[in-house]
Amino acid sequence: MEKKVITDFVHPDIDRYSEEHTSGETPMMAKLNRWTHVKMARPRMLSGAYQGKLLEMISAMVQPEKVLEIGTYVGYSAICLAKGLKPNGELHTIEVDEELEDIILKAVADAGLDNKIKLHIGNALDIMPTLQHTFDLIFIDADKINYKNYYDMAIPLLRKGGIVVLDNILWSGKVVYPQPKGDKETAVLKELNDFIQTDPRVENILLPIRDGLMICMKN
Ligand SMILES: C[S@@+](CC[C@H](N)C(=O)[O-])C[C@H]1O[C@@H](n2cnc3c(N)ncnc32)[C@H](O)[C@@H]1O
Repeated sequence: MEKKVITDFVHPDIDRYSEEHTSGETPMMAKLNRWTHVKMARPRMLSGAYQGKLLEMISAMVQPEKVLEIGTYVGYSAICLAKGLKPNGELHTIEVDEELEDIILKAVADAGLDNKIKLHIGNALDIMPTLQHTFDLIFIDADKINYKNYYDMAIPLLRKGGIVVLDNILWSGKVVYPQPKGDKETAVLKELNDFIQTDPRVENILLPIRDGLMICMKN
């Protein structure tokens, strides 16, 4: 079966206009964004200015004491989410690639958030069960194959009324169509979207922003 990909969920002119009418990045975040695009493999993994601002606003609205992020990359979204923390709050972020450790720690220090962001290097599947906290906000943005596992582990870690945000949930639009044989990631994401839709533990909304954000509130 032909692999269908949708590159524009929103008309490009609407996208551009929306970005032009959204508060911009700080100079530090603009530098991290540019640096990532010049130096790093797969810079598209970065949340970027528009989605980053949305994450920052969600966090500011939740005013979390504890945030958990699965999948740090260079630390861009961790910094956005940490901006909404309560004064005594902290953000835990998990990254499996140990080669990213120094890059993440430098970005977090440049943002002046080294006393707020705790980096765990390792596999989120191993680290999540060891976390002894209840979280107000969880952002899932790592390997798609394990998205259902991360969601299953996230819900018990979340307080009542807490929020889980899952990135890439539209997967370039591939979830909309029957998945081609062997496309396991699309299969996982399609099953998870259907599971969340009937999960009595949450209220949910799927936003067609960037690659699709699913926002769930725990009942
Ligand atoms: C899409 S990027 C994260 C982007 C970042 N959240 C942002 O928006 O700027 C996904 C990251 O998840 C990491 N990752 C993949 N599998 C993981 C796992 N099992 N545990 C922890 N991190 C993982 C990858 O190494 C990669 O850096």
